[in-house]
Amino acid sequence: MNKYVAPPYRIKMVEPIRQTSRKEREEYLRKAHNNLFLVPSEAVYIDLLTDSGTGAMSHFQWAAMMRGDEAYAGSSSFYRFEKTVRSITGYRHVIPVHQGRGAEQVLLPLLVKKPGMYFISNMHFDTTRAHVELAGARALDCVIADCFDIDKYHPFKGNMDTGRCEDLIKKHTPENIAGIIMTLTNNSAGGQPVSMNNLREVKTLAKKYRIPLIMDGARYAENACFIKDREAGYADRNIREIAHEMFACTDVFMMSAKKDGLVNIGGLIAIREDDALFRACQVRTVVYEGFPTYGGMAGRDMEALAVGLEEGLDIDYLRHRLDQVRYLADKLRDADMPIQYPAGGHAVFVECSRICPHIPYDRFPAQVMCNELYLEAGVRAIEVGSLLLGRDPESGENIKSPFEWMRLSVPRRTYTYAHLDIAAEAVIAIRKKSSQLRGLIFEYEPSVLRHFTSKMKYES
Ligand code: F0G
Repeated sequence: MNKYVAPPYRIKMVEPIRQTSRKEREEYLRKAHNNLFLVPSEAVYIDLLTDSGTGAMSHFQWAAMMRGDEAYAGSSSFYRFEKTVRSITGYRHVIPVHQGRGAEQVLLPLLVKKPGMYFISNMHFDTTRAHVELAGARALDCVIADCFDIDKYHPFKGNMDTGRCEDLIKKHTPENIAGIIMTLTNNSAGGQPVSMNNLREVKTLAKKYRIPLIMDGARYAENACFIKDREAGYADRNIREIAHEMFACTDVFMMSAKKDGLVNIGGLIAIREDDALFRACQVRTVVYEGFPTYGGMAGRDMEALAVGLEEGLDIDYLRHRLDQVRYLADKLRDADMPIQYPAGGHAVFVECSRICPHIPYDRFPAQVMCNELYLEAGVRAIEVGSLLLGRDPESGENIKSPFEWMRLSVPRRTYTYAHLDIAAEAVIAIRKKSSQLRGLIFEYEPSVLRHFTSKMKYES
C-alpha cells in the first residue's frame, strides 16, 4: 500500500517560497519581539499558522470569479451561491457574511433574549466565545472526558457529553439556554470530529427542551468524511448524503467558509425554516456586513465559494486532505511526540507542557516551542494554550489552559508531503533541545486577544 494518498490534482501555478538562514530568522524573530504573528509571511518557509483562508483555489473557482456580478442588490452571483448552500444543507434561508465571526456577530445576539443566558457547546471556538460574551451570555463547554486523554484512541473525541449537557440544561433551566452550538469539527479539541449518533442525541435534547441547535460548521465536510470512515453504517454513503443528515439534526448553520468552503475569504449563515430569525438576521446583516445579497462579500467571492463548497465535498479531495494531516501526525507519533491522538481534520496538536515541563504555563511553553520551530526551519505554527487564553477578568491572573498546544495547521491543497516531512523533522529536532529552552515574559501585553500583538522576551 502507498504510504500516503497522493493529491487528486496537478499543479499549474506556483508561488515561490524561500528558506532563510538561521541568522536571518533570529533577526526576524527579534524584530517581531518573539511574536510569530508579527513576522512577515515572506520570512516564513512553511506556514502552518492556520488552515483558514490559506488554501489554494481550483481553476474552476478562478474561472467562476470572472462572472462575478458586482450589483449591490440582487447579484446573480448571490443566487448561484444561495442555490448551492440550499442544496447542500436543505435549509431555506441563506445569508452571506464576510467570514465566520461575521456570522457570529449577526446571529448570536438574536438568540440572547435576556441577561444571564448560556450557550452550551461541545467546545466554543475563541471568536464564538467572544461573541457569546459580547452578547451578554456565558459560554459553557461540554466535550466528552476522553477528549482530554490525548493518548487514548477515540474515533469521535469532539463529541458532546450529552449527560452533562442535560444536567446543565436542568441546572440553569431550559429558558436560560440561548442555544446549543455544535462545533464541527471541534477545532479547540484538536480538530476532532463529532459522530452522527452524538449529533442525533444532541438534537433529541435540543428538541426536548426547545433550544435552538446551531452548527458551527467551518469544517463540516471533514467531519462528514470522518463519519464515513469511522462510524458504523456510513461506509457506503457519500459525503453529500452524510452532510445532509448532519444538517437535518441542526436548525442553523454558521460557517467560516475559509476552511471547507475552499476560499480565501467568506462566510455564511443558513437557517432551516425560522422565517422570523432569518428576517432579524437580515436586519443585522445590513448594519454590520452589507446588503443581504452580498453581506460582506464581493460577487466574485460568492462565485468562488459556490464552486468551493462543492469541491469541498469531493471524496478524493477529502481523502488526500485528511491523509496529509494523518501523515504529519504519524511521523510525530512514531518519534514519541505527545500529540492529540488520533489526529483531527485540519491540524496536528502537539502538547508542549510534556515536552517542556520545566517551563510553567504562565511562561508559555507552547509559544516557546513555536518560536524554536521557526528558528529551526522557518516553519510557523501557532500557540493554542495559556497565552491565547489570557487572564481571568476578576482576579487578573493568567488562566491555566488544560493543554499547551503547538498547532501545526495544514492549509488545503497548498503544501506537499515533502513540506510536511520538513515540518515533522524540525519538531523532532527541537524536542532534543527542549531542556535548554527558557520561558517567555511580556514586554507589552494588550488587554484583549493579547497573543496577536503582544511583545515578549525570554527570561534570563
Ligand atoms: N468557528 C470555528 C470552529 C473556527 O475554527 C473559526 C476560525 C471561526 C469560527 C471563526 O471564523 O476566522 O472566519 O472569522 N478559525 C481560524 C483558525 C481562525 O485558525 O482556527 P473566521
